[in-house]
Amino acid sequence: MGEKYKPWIIFLHLLIITCSSGSRARELVGSGTENKILEAISDENHETVQREHTHVHSHMDHIDPSVMVFFTFKDLKAGKTMPIYFPKRDPATSPELWPRKEADSLPFSLNQLPNLLKVFSLSPNSPQAKAMEDTLRECESKPIKGEVKFCATSLESMLDFTQTILGITYDLQVFTTSHKTKSSVTFQNYTFENIVKIPASKMVACHTMPYPYAVFYCHSQESENKIFRVALGGENGDRVEAMVVCHMDTSQWGHGHVSFQVLKVKPGSTSVCHFFPADNLILVPKLQQHGLATM
Ligand SMILES: *[C@@H]1O[C@H](CO)[C@@H](O)[C@H](O)[C@H]1NC(C)=O
Repeated sequence: MGEKYKPWIIFLHLLIITCSSGSRARELVGSGTENKILEAISDENHETVQREHTHVHSHMDHIDPSVMVFFTFKDLKAGKTMPIYFPKRDPATSPELWPRKEADSLPFSLNQLPNLLKVFSLSPNSPQAKAMEDTLRECESKPIKGEVKFCATSLESMLDFTQTILGITYDLQVFTTSHKTKSSVTFQNYTFENIVKIPASKMVACHTMPYPYAVFYCHSQESENKIFRVALGGENGDRVEAMVVCHMDTSQWGHGHVSFQVLKVKPGSTSVCHFFPADNLILVPKLQQHGLATM
């Protein structure tokens, strides 16, 4: 790993300590909200997509708020108001990011699940076991056309993957959604106040996954993506500096993709943008000083 990555790594360490953590403990126990958004984003697992499809349809009148993160590029305008779901997590109860040596000492594969459950003393019928199974399945699913994906079980493996995508000649920069106010409201209307485009030729997005230790699902798509930082004002006065990625070409996404259900559109017919929860990362080559432009 190159010398120039060191300051960045320290920064990422801090970042992960301060905000990545979240209650994956809670997610493990609960419904795995992040998984739903991730499934929506990654959408390469047919089984998963089918499940989401059914799920959204059978509850058409009251769609699960956790999927309320999608909109189209033409709606990315100052003054736009929409309901958005942001999970709130308690960093104190979240799984830790393990050093590579430790993470690599355990298998990370679905066919090892029974052994892994023993290692973590989890009952095969527990919700935690189900969450681990879902995560491993998602991590082993095939990428869609034009996509590269990797589940990182340590900071080092995340950096290695990111380097292979962005190229080792770049310095890296990491962006995350940050909550500027403290509140427990997870779902409310927000107004887009200020929109800044983050110029980047390539990007890697990393999403947290429910697992007994920190696992990031990282992926990169060849098709055109645009990255934005959007200042949001909540109905209750909450302020969020939210990261948004807009996928300009959705033609390779499955028909059952949850974003198409939420937006009521067909694959390829429109761009799909989505908000990032606070513990997800967007990694890009480092920006030039003059790189930011307000829309
Ligand atoms: C957002 O505002 C609309 C219009 O005022 C309202 O019908 C809706 O219930 C609000 N949504 C949330 C999540 O507060």
